[in-house]
Amino acid sequence: MSAPIITNHPLIQHKLTLIRDKNTPSKDFREMVTEIAMLMCYEATRDLPLKEIEIETPITVTKANIISGRKLAFVPILRAGLGMCDGMLQLVPAAKIGHIGMYRDPITHEPHEYYCKLPADIDERDVIVLDPMLATGGSAIDAINAIKKRNPHSIKFVCICAAPEGVAALTEAHPDVQIYTAALDEKLNDNKYIVPGLGDAGDRIFGTK
Ligand code: PRP
Ligand code: URA
Repeated sequence: MSAPIITNHPLIQHKLTLIRDKNTPSKDFREMVTEIAMLMCYEATRDLPLKEIEIETPITVTKANIISGRKLAFVPILRAGLGMCDGMLQLVPAAKIGHIGMYRDPITHEPHEYYCKLPADIDERDVIVLDPMLATGGSAIDAINAIKKRNPHSIKFVCICAAPEGVAALTEAHPDVQIYTAALDEKLNDNKYIVPGLGDAGDRIFGTK
């Protein structure tokens, strides 16, 4: 798979700067995560195939393009991935939603799965996994392992902030998964938080700290 796609659209970059700011309150943080996700959905679905159909406009009969029957599933990694789901659904309302609950142990930083519910027909779908943060990559790797057991057509991973360490780990574990990120940050700190990052995405979305 190719290198991560960095979605450098000015609207995404502007909103990303605002959510990085530690003084941005939860309400604004949540709204902008939704907006960023919607804009990233536009990028992540750029390769959806089209087919030509015939329609009748008020003026004439013509041929025009529609998306050709590909079915999508969004799979947010709980909790923080939930913050990206509504934005994606605004552009693809027919997508089905799966949920994978993962938390990172605060001491070992290892991911632990606590919930997994995926659409029954996920084997007929292209899956977009959502999580604002790709830090060590452990959560994304384990979530994608769980999804792959159900044989989806394809998997993409969409995040907002990625560390080089996480990109390397995820690319090595799942070279077939295209990563989309709004930013490739500098590094991880000793606590495995992304630097400069935006802090704990789940806490900032849900106001739990
Ligand atoms: C955060 C984030 C990712 C994970 C990234 O979740 O949303 O899922 O950490 O870290 P990693 O790449 O090192 O695995 P967290 O475990 O804090 O749970 P939360 O979303 O419930 O806050
Ligand atoms: N999880 C977060 O929410 N933020 C980080 O920087 C790393 C992991």
